[in-house]
Amino acid sequence: MREDFYYQQARIKGYRSRASFKLLQINNKFSVFRKGQIIIDLGASPGGWSQVASHLVGGNGKVIAIDKSYISPFKEKNVEILNKDILNRNLPIIVLETYGKTDGLISDCSPNITGDFSRDHAIQISLARRALALTQELIKDNGFFICKLFQGTELQDFIKEMKKHFETTKLYKPAASRKKSAEIYVIGLKYSISKDSSKETTN
Ligand SMILES: C[S@@+](CC[C@H](N)C(=O)[O-])C[C@H]1O[C@@H](n2cnc3c(N)ncnc32)[C@H](O)[C@@H]1O
Repeated sequence: MREDFYYQQARIKGYRSRASFKLLQINNKFSVFRKGQIIIDLGASPGGWSQVASHLVGGNGKVIAIDKSYISPFKEKNVEILNKDILNRNLPIIVLETYGKTDGLISDCSPNITGDFSRDHAIQISLARRALALTQELIKDNGFFICKLFQGTELQDFIKEMKKHFETTKLYKPAASRKKSAEIYVIGLKYSISKDSSKETTN
């Protein structure tokens, strides 16, 4: 099965989670990462995305891995861990004081799945909204945003909100994301404070 393939590949390549391949596939499609960038990774535990981001930004770049759950230390020297809830209202101040504005924000945040689809969707979208709000405080003009979403009734409203802030907004389900999973990823390119939302398209 495909999930076994990515699970095994993660073990072979030393990634902490099979989720690493989702980020790699998103980057293969949209080419967002560059050497030297500073990236915030929300909902980073156990750390598969942070490892991928670390390699893509290289030794002159930095990844700030944030999760309310424990993240074990990385051997990658350019990854720093902040053990915080993303809902913590002091989080933007802490990040800005230490790192300044960053080049991109990625969020794979999801709640513990209860199986109650509407509830899981509502909680996950609220985490995505918090991540989007944090981009407005923490990323530079022209920065990028990659965010996990659970598909459901609030998805289109979220996309509309994204289009107010990014020149381009795309939805993408990487091959490594299980077909039966409701998850999909939204990619916002070229963050702009002054953007006119009426010009945007999604596909
Ligand atoms: C699917 S996992 C992320 C996997 C990770 N991207 C990787 O590649 O290893 C989702 C994460 O979101 C985190 N999360 C959920 N709600 C959060 C919150 N309010 N603040 C911080 N992290 C949160 C969970 O603790 C969990 O570690």
